[in-house]
Amino acid sequence: MPVWSELLGHLKGRECHALEVGVFEGRSSVWLLENILTHPASTLTVVDTFVGGAEHAATDLTDLEARFRANTAAHAAKLVVRKGRSEAMLRELPLGRYDFVSIDGSHEAADVLSDAVLSWPLVKPGWLVCFDDYEWWIDAAPERSPKLAIDAFLATMRGRCEVVRKGWQAWVKKVV
Ligand SMILES: C[S@@+](CC[C@H](N)C(=O)[O-])C[C@H]1O[C@@H](n2cnc3c(N)ncnc32)[C@H](O)[C@@H]1O
Repeated sequence: MPVWSELLGHLKGRECHALEVGVFEGRSSVWLLENILTHPASTLTVVDTFVGGAEHAATDLTDLEARFRANTAAHAAKLVVRKGRSEAMLRELPLGRYDFVSIDGSHEAADVLSDAVLSWPLVKPGWLVCFDDYEWWIDAAPERSPKLAIDAFLATMRGRCEVVRKGWQAWVKKVV
């Protein structure tokens, strides 16, 4: 949260629009709504299947969507919820609308690459994308984790983006 405050804090109180791919119970969503998306016209669009990912295989998530809705209920007027797989949902969102996109859905490299490619045109030039779990892994096979996809995307987009921060999360500014 200190990094999110540092990089997004200047958006607080201004009209802005954020997109989250992968919200789970809504912890990051609530933080954004309470700390950044405070202007009455600001919005948060979220994309989630609400069935969890490979890392949740042993967890009972039958009421995940209900938990997300309850946790974010106080901000329902600012929320746009698109339930489904990101590869389908992201294609239906408006181009060039978002000041900030968080990519924290499926952690399979193929899905992260798809989320990056489909989200990029949705971001306003000069604004930010955060790839979560850059260093996370669950399996030694690189295609099972985000890093392979994030590195491939950043190499491909060299000159079109600027890496602002790279650690557990990779923060990228869209230049053009
Ligand atoms: C790591 S959790 C997100 C955590 C959240 N960003 C936070 O910080 O509180 C990943 C979420 O992505 C969702 N997800 C996994 N694969 C997805 C896909 N292909 N499309 C959309 N959502 C997906 C899961 O249902 C889960 O809620």
